[in-house]
Amino acid sequence: MRSQQERFALAKVVAANPAMLRVKPAASLFMTRYMRQFPIRRFGRNLILHSHLPPLTGAAYARFVDHHLVGRRPGPSHAQVGLTNACPQNCEYCYNKSRSGRPMDTATILRVIDDLRDAGVAWLGFTGGEPLLNRDIVDVTAHASSTMAVKLFTTGVGLTAQMAADLAAAGLFSVAVSLDHWEEARHDASRRYEGAFDAAMEAISILRRVPGIHVSVSSVLSRQMIRNGDVNRLISFLESLGVDEAWLSEVKPSVEDFWDEELVITEDDRRALCRLQDHHNRSVRGRGRMEGMTINYLGHFEGAENFGCNAGCKMVYIDAFGEVSPCVFLPLSFGNVRERALGEILAEMREHFPGENRCFINKNYRLLGSGKYGELPLDRPQAIAALDQVKFGPQSEFNRRLKGAGS
Ligand SMILES: C[S@@+](CC[C@H](N)C(=O)[O-])C[C@H]1O[C@@H](n2cnc3c(N)ncnc32)[C@H](O)[C@@H]1O
Ligand code: SF4
Repeated sequence: MRSQQERFALAKVVAANPAMLRVKPAASLFMTRYMRQFPIRRFGRNLILHSHLPPLTGAAYARFVDHHLVGRRPGPSHAQVGLTNACPQNCEYCYNKSRSGRPMDTATILRVIDDLRDAGVAWLGFTGGEPLLNRDIVDVTAHASSTMAVKLFTTGVGLTAQMAADLAAAGLFSVAVSLDHWEEARHDASRRYEGAFDAAMEAISILRRVPGIHVSVSSVLSRQMIRNGDVNRLISFLESLGVDEAWLSEVKPSVEDFWDEELVITEDDRRALCRLQDHHNRSVRGRGRMEGMTINYLGHFEGAENFGCNAGCKMVYIDAFGEVSPCVFLPLSFGNVRERALGEILAEMREHFPGENRCFINKNYRLLGSGKYGELPLDRPQAIAALDQVKFGPQSEFNRRLKGAGS
């Protein structure tokens, strides 16, 4: 049962998005049920469900409703852009490890952002490398935030109170600081950087003092942590930090060291984490005052029962060198924004990515790592040859309802 405050929040969401009344009833019912699984939080004038959707009362969410829920337009709703590939840390699992090239300059990044907006993107993640190393990050954020909800992923290294305030003033809605373990030595080891833990803690403390910014921690979980219960301890620790959200993902097999059946999660592991999330979020909602930390597990969003895998259809990644990939975790490129119009690249990618009800890389990493198609990231001809071997499964519940097959 929703508290009176939550019902009021939901009414505000509908009032801010009258187009929601034109969404197909089956999809509208899905969205209502989906939203019920999370507490809704207020940040200034923003109401936030979680950091993977735009604030529910803002212009970006209105565009999401209009383009994707009502208009059912093809093209991405979500994108990530690499602002630099330079990084002080050297994580064992980093999905950018094998990427290299000539970095995009600021003019190119701004053009890419405009093209993404025109393609229908409503949610934009800034990633890297360490995006704070891009000296124009505040201007780039201001440019993108006028039409899109912008979230920043950061190690926290180098963040100052002034930078945080400038980013908030530029319109940034959410920040995820990476923190993989409650033990300093374990986090530093996974990031192969002494001081990683202290930098993350300092950044969280700075960000929590900035009014209006939604603060999350991004934690990458090993399969072992999910199975041996360490994830519960991690969640208690993250909650003690006073952050708004724990953004959880299992380690994805994007790089060779993780192409190992023993390291990749199973559907049972995914479901176990979804249950943990549901239990936790229900208890936070039960407190009735929109307090407490939300858990937002990527595997919940991309599961069969929710939105499914959006790689290449509703999600796109433009790395710091301008290479276009279906999502951050997929080491294959459909071309470079300097050489081909982004709209053309997106259209071609969509032909190869119809969407399905489970994570593409978790299911298909063996194929990409078979060595048959060349060095990673695969280039366009290699990517297409590899994708020709992929059998896509059924659609997610959301897509079935939106596209008409579901009730
Ligand atoms: C590539 S990093 C860029 C931002 C910044 N350098 C950082 O680490 O926070 C973005 C996020 O992706 C996560 N990440 C990187 N490789 C991953 C993988 N193979 N599986 C799951 N998450 C991954 C990182 O932990 C981080 O939270
Ligand atoms: S800190 Fe981020 S970009 Fe740097 S190596 Fe780790 S995951 Fe990759």
